[in-house]
Amino acid sequence: MTFRLYSGDSNVFETQQLAYRCPTAEHPDLMPFEPTEIERWLIVGGGGFGREVYHWTLGHLHSGDHGGSVGFLDDNQHCLDTFPDLVSLWRGRISEYSPQPGDRLLMAIADPAVKLKVGEHLIARGALFASFAHPKAIISPDTLIGVGCILCPFSVVCCNVRVGNFVSMNIGALVGHDSIVGDGGTLSPHSDVAGQVELERGVFLGCQTVILPKTKVGEFARVGAGSVVISNVRSHSTMMGVPAKRISWNKTDDAPLKKAA
Ligand SMILES: CC(C)(COP(=O)(O)OP(=O)(O)OC[C@H]1O[C@@H](n2cnc3c(N)ncnc32)[C@H](O)[C@@H]1OP(=O)(O)O)[C@@H](O)C(=O)NCCC(=O)NCCS
Repeated sequence: MTFRLYSGDSNVFETQQLAYRCPTAEHPDLMPFEPTEIERWLIVGGGGFGREVYHWTLGHLHSGDHGGSVGFLDDNQHCLDTFPDLVSLWRGRISEYSPQPGDRLLMAIADPAVKLKVGEHLIARGALFASFAHPKAIISPDTLIGVGCILCPFSVVCCNVRVGNFVSMNIGALVGHDSIVGDGGTLSPHSDVAGQVELERGVFLGCQTVILPKTKVGEFARVGAGSVVISNVRSHSTMMGVPAKRISWNKTDDAPLKKAA
């Protein structure tokens, strides 16, 4: 994970301060980038969450004097065709994207495994991701947060929490004190992570899930909507119910994408 202290006075992230190249196999150390003028914001993923991110970020993204614009990256070029207010926005394919110096990317894919693959693939190609928190998100000033995160309105991060890269917290999602959210975590609306919890890499929490204190949820586990996790969860489990029980194994393919040629 790459962390950056959340230090903004307002709830809008200073995206230029927060955009970092992640460590890669070749560059394991944190590599702060030189802030450059942002000319284009690109939302990665044109599905439901991508459209939500577009609307939550409207008016909150800083851009340069050169006509800063917003577009989408999605390999499905028809993803926005039925949305009249979005159909005219610029669209490019993820697989064909070539990073430009003034670009800053926002990750808006909900599926953790896909999100991590695409995000890490784009970073390996030189893309720069920013993190965004809506002004109505509540974030403890000692939060450590990675790149490519989206914190929607009414999401709450309590004290001494570490949020990894490519984490999304949807409306009303809460992470309690002294918790860790691993890279790629997706916290659906009103999911409630209590204190001293560890969510490993790639965990998906459905709407209105509850994770009780001091539990650990293993990597790429999924917790069904409305479920309550009361004890540790093994990696790749699909859990449902109150209390949550394993109903199946998540067969997600979490191998990284092959590096672009
Ligand atoms: C955990 C989850 C991802 C599993 O998805 P899946 O592997 O596709 O599983 P399915 O949806 O096929 O459901 C498998 C079984 O569990 C049942 N089930 C699904 N969700 C359930 C839930 N939250 N609680 C209890 N049972 C549930 C289904 O009815 C199905 O039962 P059946 O086998 O008797 O037909 C999914 O059930 C879920 O809860 N997703 C959360 C969605 C959400 O909150 N999205 C946020 C959008 S912003």
